[in-house]
Amino acid sequence: MDPTFKIHGLSAFYGAKEVLKGININILPNSVTAIIGPSGCGKSTFIRSLNRINDLILNFHTAGKVFYHNQDIYAKDVDVFDLRRRIGMVFQKPNPFPKSIYDNIAYGLRIHDFTTREMIDEIVQKSLKKAALWDEVKDSLKQNALTLSGGQQQRLCIARTLAIEPEVILFDEPCSALDPISTAKIEELIHQLKQNYTIIIVTHNMQQAARVSDYAGFFLLGELIEFDKTEVIFKAPKDKRTEDYITGRFG
Ligand SMILES: Nc1ncnc2c1ncn2[C@@H]1O[C@H](COP(=O)(O)OP(=O)(O)O)[C@@H](O)[C@H]1O
Ligand SMILES: [Mg+2]
Repeated sequence: MDPTFKIHGLSAFYGAKEVLKGININILPNSVTAIIGPSGCGKSTFIRSLNRINDLILNFHTAGKVFYHNQDIYAKDVDVFDLRRRIGMVFQKPNPFPKSIYDNIAYGLRIHDFTTREMIDEIVQKSLKKAALWDEVKDSLKQNALTLSGGQQQRLCIARTLAIEPEVILFDEPCSALDPISTAKIEELIHQLKQNYTIIIVTHNMQQAARVSDYAGFFLLGELIEFDKTEVIFKAPKDKRTEDYITGRFG
């Protein structure tokens, strides 16, 4: 299977400070890849380099190559807006717009002259179903999204991302603000979504990484220390530093 991403010697800098150092990884389609490591080791910077959302930060720059389906995403002719539609993102803190549940999903859609209300209704319904939220909100689509619980808000943000029909979804600690029941729902959802999407999830929860991912990469101080199948990382890591981290000896 052709990798979704081929990452060759990716380094990242905020000003002169190098926070990612020569990362090499292939990310496979229809799989979940977990990025683990202590706070500040570059996990967020890494995933934010994959859809160029960090371009929005002044003084941020990268070196090395990120190929998305063999396209160099940092090449000059890349349409960054299109790239970000294909590579969606869900953040740590649920961030719905202060609008209705319905509008949260309808808002980002590409509306053409020929788009009918019925077509939008259908996308809203389909996206909420895929995000396992439909049954809970189908009778209150006009309600303000901010009245939902944190876990529901996060699933709404996932629905909003799915509505744009991305191929990849980047999750940056999507459950760290959620209770255990909501967390379990999101994990179950991620497990289902991998049938149709390429998923990368940053998590500092080791159990979560072990439960949801197929592959895992351990980062430390901007370096990728080890990358392998999740069961290898957790049961037979090759590097002492990985072992120390997953057994809770530091971090
Ligand atoms: N906007 C920024 N400007 C300068 N330094 C930053 C910025 N964002 C992150 N950093 C630094 O980059 C390093 C990696 O951060 P980050 O990718 O957020 O790590 P993680 O997600 O693993 O906690 C840290 O040292 C952090 O302080
Ligand atoms: Mg982070």
